[in-house]
Amino acid sequence: MLSSRALALRAHRPEEPRSVATGDRWNAGRSPLDFPHQAGRHCLSEEEAYEGGLLMGNSIGILQVTEKDVIRTLSPNETMNRTDHDFPVEYWVAGRSAIDAIRTCLVSAHKSGSEIQHILDFPCGHGRVLRYLKAAFPHAELTACDLLRDGVDFCSSVFGAIPVYSDEDVAEIPLGENGYDLIWVGSLLTHLDSDRWEAFLIKLASCLRDGGVVVFTTHGASVYKRMKGVENFYNCGLPYWRITKVLYRYEQAGFGYADYLGAHGYGFSISAPQWVLSTISRHRDLRCVLYADRGWHNLQDVYACVKSTKPVKTEIATPLTTYVKHLLREVWKPKPTS
Ligand SMILES: C[S@@+](CC[C@H](N)C(=O)[O-])C[C@H]1O[C@@H](n2cnc3c(N)ncnc32)[C@H](O)[C@@H]1O
Repeated sequence: MLSSRALALRAHRPEEPRSVATGDRWNAGRSPLDFPHQAGRHCLSEEEAYEGGLLMGNSIGILQVTEKDVIRTLSPNETMNRTDHDFPVEYWVAGRSAIDAIRTCLVSAHKSGSEIQHILDFPCGHGRVLRYLKAAFPHAELTACDLLRDGVDFCSSVFGAIPVYSDEDVAEIPLGENGYDLIWVGSLLTHLDSDRWEAFLIKLASCLRDGGVVVFTTHGASVYKRMKGVENFYNCGLPYWRITKVLYRYEQAGFGYADYLGAHGYGFSISAPQWVLSTISRHRDLRCVLYADRGWHNLQDVYACVKSTKPVKTEIATPLTTYVKHLLREVWKPKPTS
């Protein structure tokens, strides 16, 4: 059942856009992301998706993946968004929202969907987002990488992705260099301490081809407010004393982290955009082109970086003598009278 608010908004929905035609010569090899004005319906039943989109603050009017193209098979081991008995609509909204975020990132990076031929989902989990990547980029080769081997196997057998088993030691992750046009990193750094961010950013940059785009997500100000209890309290799986540790460090330094109980090196992080941008700026090959507050699923912040190994031409410096001369001019030159 749609809520009365959803029904009211639905009544004002613009005319249903047409689905992307796939068989003709003009469209051949192109991604649905290349045709935003031709976007089709998307995800689950229309009612559920529409209501979910409203709940999450997304506009399904701009979605570009047709519902029929999204593979619905779920792994029995999928844990994301899972409740005791079911996968609520949030599961699907998260996948769809990732495509929304990626689309915005590609626009910021001046890339078209058809330029994206090789995609890495890192970490893929059990394909919550990969199923949407497959629908959004039907022409692209997908690679699925995670520590969870059954997740990688599932993504390989159900979505046809190239399977890559990850490693706790970043240096040992068997991913080739310069191979990907797009890397989606959904909710990995959100679980790692700052020293591991460095290692992963170096690794991800090395896997991107020159001009490729890495899109990653973080917990930012909105998650901070929820952990703090200012908005809709969220304990994020940590005991109260570790929540305090995360909050205190975030308030002091813009970054806070604590391990989950019983885990070592895996927990919950929150990071302010200033901290994230300063961290990115230390990587010469990565140029940040987008930061979106709560850009994924109305919860996690989204950053997009383009890999650029070409040396930046040194600007011709403005001579100090000219600068001083022009400052002095302000003093000695009589001001024009009106
Ligand atoms: C919160 S889940 C997100 C999964 C998926 N991106 C999604 O949105 O459904 C975090 C994932 O990170 C994976 N992970 C943690 N450390 C990793 C590593 N070193 N290499 C690859 N995956 C890792 C975990 O196995 C888990 O599947």
